Amino acid sequence: MAGDVILHTEGLRKAFGGLVALDNVSIDVERGSVTLMMGPNGAGKTTFLRVVCGMYKPDAGTVVFDGHDITGLKPHEIYKLGLVKTFQIPLPFVKLTVLENLLVAARDNPGEGILKAPFRRAWLKKEEELVEKAFKLLELLKLDHLWDHPSYGLSGGQMKLLEIGRALMTDAKMVMMDEPISGVNPVLAHEIFSRLLKLRKELNVTFFIIEHRLEIALKYVDYVYVLDRGHLLTEGRPEEVIDDPRVVEAYL
Ligand SMILES: Nc1ncnc2c1ncn2[C@@H]1O[C@H](COP(=O)(O)OP(=O)(O)OP(=O)(O)O)[C@@H](O)[C@H]1O
Ligand SMILES: [Mg+2]
Repeated sequence: MAGDVILHTEGLRKAFGGLVALDNVSIDVERGSVTLMMGPNGAGKTTFLRVVCGMYKPDAGTVVFDGHDITGLKPHEIYKLGLVKTFQIPLPFVKLTVLENLLVAARDNPGEGILKAPFRRAWLKKEEELVEKAFKLLELLKLDHLWDHPSYGLSGGQMKLLEIGRALMTDAKMVMMDEPISGVNPVLAHEIFSRLLKLRKELNVTFFIIEHRLEIALKYVDYVYVLDRGHLLTEGRPEEVIDDPRVVEAYL
């Protein structure tokens, strides 16, 4: 793949006992892209995501994110470099409002550092900036009208949008999501993807998405990787991949 690669994996392998869940998986994700990983049940998609985010250590291979070799780093170390998996960050505090849920997700929230409390002016300025940033994200997610609603009142789909907003409050360069539209009705599922495209355009953030619902997801993504029984079966633009006889066969 041409262009600026934000995530590169080389020869990733992960076995559970005798079961090889990932076998020699090498991919490149272009910066600013929306990249999909698809494949039948048990193909190794979730395992791949967990290895990349540091939740599992690979048996072999390397992961390079934004120029850093992150192979074997702990999840919080990887998160600090700007690679965030949604649903890895704590679930929204249901009693907090939508806006508060974004503010607590921001990293280096200055109000947290008791030593900095005396520097009230700097602190207030930073708070102001965070509120501004949160509102900008809420507008892009079309959740701004709900800013002072407690998050327990949100629908399932809105909750997923809030999770994405929380990931972006951390200044994530790349957001990884495992089945972000599962359980969401088709109309809202399309909405979620079109809002992702808007976020990508505005913030140049990269999205890496695992999804089963191809009839929805394929319309919105730039590039697709297909996993099957731990192997990379094929890759390409959505229209190329979907016509590949090997993909059709893997799904049958
Ligand atoms: N922690 C684990 N211990 C043992 N086996 C595991 C573990 N995690 C995954 N596996 C096995 O590894 C294989 C790949 O699983 P994985 O969850 O990565 O697939 P998937 O592509 O995400 O599937 P799905 O589409 O159903 O979510 C499966 O055979 C699964 O049973
Ligand atoms: Mg899975």
